[in-house]
Amino acid sequence: MTESFSFPFSVLLLELDEAPLMRTEQPKMIYLKDYQVPDYLIDETHLTFELFEDHTLVHAQLVMRRNPEAGAGLPLLVLDGQQLELLELKLDDQVLVAGDYQLSDSQLSLQPTHEQFVIDSSVRIHPESNTALEGLYKSGSMFCTQCEAEGFRKITYYLDRPDVMSKFTTTLSAEQHRYPVLLSNGNPIASGTEEGGRHWATWEDPFRKPAYLFALVAGDLWCVEDTFTTMSQRDVALRIYVEPENIDKVQHAMDSLKKSMKWDEEVYGREYDLDIFMIVAVNDFNMGAMENKGLNIFNSSCVLARAETATDAAHQRVEAVVAHEYFHNWSGNRVTCRDWFQLSLKEGFTVFRDAEFSADMHSRTVKRIEDVAYLRTHQFAEDAGPMAHPVRPDAYMEISNFYTLTIYEKGAEVLRMIHTLLGAELFRKGSDLYFARHDGQAVTCDDFVKAMEDASGIDLAQFKRWYSQAGTPQLVVSEHYDALAQRYTLTFAQSCPATPGQSEKQPFVIPVALGLLDAQGNALPLQLAGEAQAQGVQRVLSVTEAQQSFTFVNLAEQPLPSLLRGFSAPVKLSFPYSRDQLMFLMQHDSDGFNRWEAGQQLAVQVLQELIGQQQRGEPMLLDPRLVTALRSVLENHSLDSAMVAEMLSLPGEGYLAELAEQADVEAIHAAREFARARLAEALFEPLWARYQANRQVSRSTPYQAEAAHFARRSLQNIALSYLMLCNRGEVLEACVEQFDTADNMTERLAALAVLVNSPAEEAAQRALAQFAECFADNPLVMDQWFSVQAACQRPGALARVQALMNHAAFSLKNPNKVRALIGAFANQNLVHFHAADGAGYRFLADQVIALNRLNPQIAARQLLPLTRWARYDAPRQALMRNELLRIRDSGSLSSDVFEVLDKSLRTA
Ligand code: TRP
Ligand code: ZN
Repeated sequence: MTESFSFPFSVLLLELDEAPLMRTEQPKMIYLKDYQVPDYLIDETHLTFELFEDHTLVHAQLVMRRNPEAGAGLPLLVLDGQQLELLELKLDDQVLVAGDYQLSDSQLSLQPTHEQFVIDSSVRIHPESNTALEGLYKSGSMFCTQCEAEGFRKITYYLDRPDVMSKFTTTLSAEQHRYPVLLSNGNPIASGTEEGGRHWATWEDPFRKPAYLFALVAGDLWCVEDTFTTMSQRDVALRIYVEPENIDKVQHAMDSLKKSMKWDEEVYGREYDLDIFMIVAVNDFNMGAMENKGLNIFNSSCVLARAETATDAAHQRVEAVVAHEYFHNWSGNRVTCRDWFQLSLKEGFTVFRDAEFSADMHSRTVKRIEDVAYLRTHQFAEDAGPMAHPVRPDAYMEISNFYTLTIYEKGAEVLRMIHTLLGAELFRKGSDLYFARHDGQAVTCDDFVKAMEDASGIDLAQFKRWYSQAGTPQLVVSEHYDALAQRYTLTFAQSCPATPGQSEKQPFVIPVALGLLDAQGNALPLQLAGEAQAQGVQRVLSVTEAQQSFTFVNLAEQPLPSLLRGFSAPVKLSFPYSRDQLMFLMQHDSDGFNRWEAGQQLAVQVLQELIGQQQRGEPMLLDPRLVTALRSVLENHSLDSAMVAEMLSLPGEGYLAELAEQADVEAIHAAREFARARLAEALFEPLWARYQANRQVSRSTPYQAEAAHFARRSLQNIALSYLMLCNRGEVLEACVEQFDTADNMTERLAALAVLVNSPAEEAAQRALAQFAECFADNPLVMDQWFSVQAACQRPGALARVQALMNHAAFSLKNPNKVRALIGAFANQNLVHFHAADGAGYRFLADQVIALNRLNPQIAARQLLPLTRWARYDAPRQALMRNELLRIRDSGSLSSDVFEVLDKSLRTA
């Protein structure tokens, strides 16, 4: 807690009807070093839910015993519980009365008298008014749950920690007419009807699991059903449940599920373990999806996809998220986390697994490019800001704030580096050992690394600093060529900036995949000094010291290095390439990722020059080499269209801001738009040719969610976005034609986005109106409609966003809507969000204040852009900090929002 300000929260402010989400205690820091095994264990958990319209009754029977690993005696039993109305409590069938137990607003404590005992509790809860979407809540007319990380304590009194694993049986009862479908984890074992139009069902999950993997669903749902035959010839029933109107948008998710199951058998040897696997789509969900055992619950945006209503990006996201949640059945559920500091144990590993799956399903290089661009723009920014934390954090206030890009994306990079260092075969040996050794256990990142070490014989002690040290390492590379001796030396200097709570950093193990090119672009054989002969044309060097040199021998000419191929480590690499050398690498590097990367570096150099010119008030002059480079990309018909599209995409404003010492969003925007317009003029002919050829194929080919089709549409659409900068009648006509006649959302939405950002206001207004009319009853498509407008760079953006807040399809209670409108504005519309008068900041702060009461998790996330104040100029810093202070003083804060504010106001 800072001394600079006190927590603006008093018990007096907590009027129950006003702020039921808030805690009466100041949020406390929880430390990894304080971890202790649980005093008690729960062998069996028997739950009964009676669902009603104005309340729900939860009866829990917990069969408990003293944890033999926790020492002697019978300590006080402390159960977690929040926002529960306790109706009855029994210990071994004896009703307890006040004085037999203690209640606070987050705990229930009582003194056991035996090593083994049974607790029975009955509580009343209110899912019908739960807007935090944590615990049991209603999404539309259906009941559903979200328990990760600490939502189960809002359902019943429990040991709500992932190292307490229990066998669950769950009975649900509800009105049959409204809730014909009653689901929970595991297998259905009994059901029946009651008088008064109610019915019930009992589910039993044979696998022990922590409470965060519990789920139930009750609703009027339809399902698509299929089967998967596992590697040991067991038939698994697959069911995807959706609201009836969405039943036509489920096939893609089902196909993705079957591919995921097959892939996990083939690549990891992992077989599914229950007879039934269910996915339920809900419209109100804080994240993408949740891997509850046998009953995954998904944000409908990550399930529903068909050509007419979902873009290619959405199709790929559905496939990736279905895979991710399915893969958790082993990496997360069968082997789970000991405590929440270990979150990346399951998330980093599972993101790595889903990324490899997507790479195998489509283009490996394109997938890597997308992931790296995302990581460098967003995770690097997080790692450089006030919320920076290690992949395995050592302290938190609110665990919900730690579902971050660092845990997920950087965590996946750490796994990828282990894979690179061990090689595919030893990595697989390591993962087999990990799953075999720890099946049914709750373990740590150290346990994972130990399995990798034991299986491979490779020492990863120093490598583990990637888990404990935050911040993005810098890797500065210099070269020296000795022509006489024919020796070429690369020197690597690594350093890592200070992050909150960590001023000193030890050197990392940085795997650098590289190759050397001769003047014709051929790959040179790589022989290090001291080696008897060359070992291939690409290899991985391990940089382990603060400064370290590697000398290659037998090189008759000075080579050009291709460094960090495939982005083999999440670092900021710098090497003094000339623009001509980058153009050469764009043409000749055998590594597709590095060809793209060379183009990005060239574009960054050119754009940074333009930004400087703009800042100094000089006329901007575009280096013609960028035009030349992109022309040859466009004219190279042997390149995959998706690669052409990626190479034509200039680094985003967010990435350019990330690279700048101080981000000048106006200059960045002006420079990037200038470059785009010049490129469009100079490359009009090849762009137009490429556009027309691809559009022609799109017109005559039925939609497929498949790599070659994604590739064609991405090239077609990026060409269109350039062409529309040229103000030509024939392009506008083509764009409108694409919008009007496309048979799929990818082409339609791309046309809409460029229209909306063009000066063709009338056409844009007509398209927006028509789109809204056509898709008024499809909330996911309306999300796209909100986002396109929120990200629109034309003058008046904030006023338009504010007006859209009153649109009938908008709701502050629905996280997808919040992300589509408020999130898109603050994260994708940098010039307008950072408007010099501070209106963008004020708007966001107002929304955070409102969201804090409705949904703390979403409030804390939407707040993040304001926490990055240190990257902007002094007047903007002052404006942003003022808004942070205004949120702080706005009344009772959730622990989620409090922690983010506290950390971002702490610095300077
Ligand atoms: N475990 C989920 C995943 O990565 C994440 C998740 C879903 C989550 N819903 C949540 C995390 C709510 C925190 C709060 O697949
Ligand atoms: Zn996950």
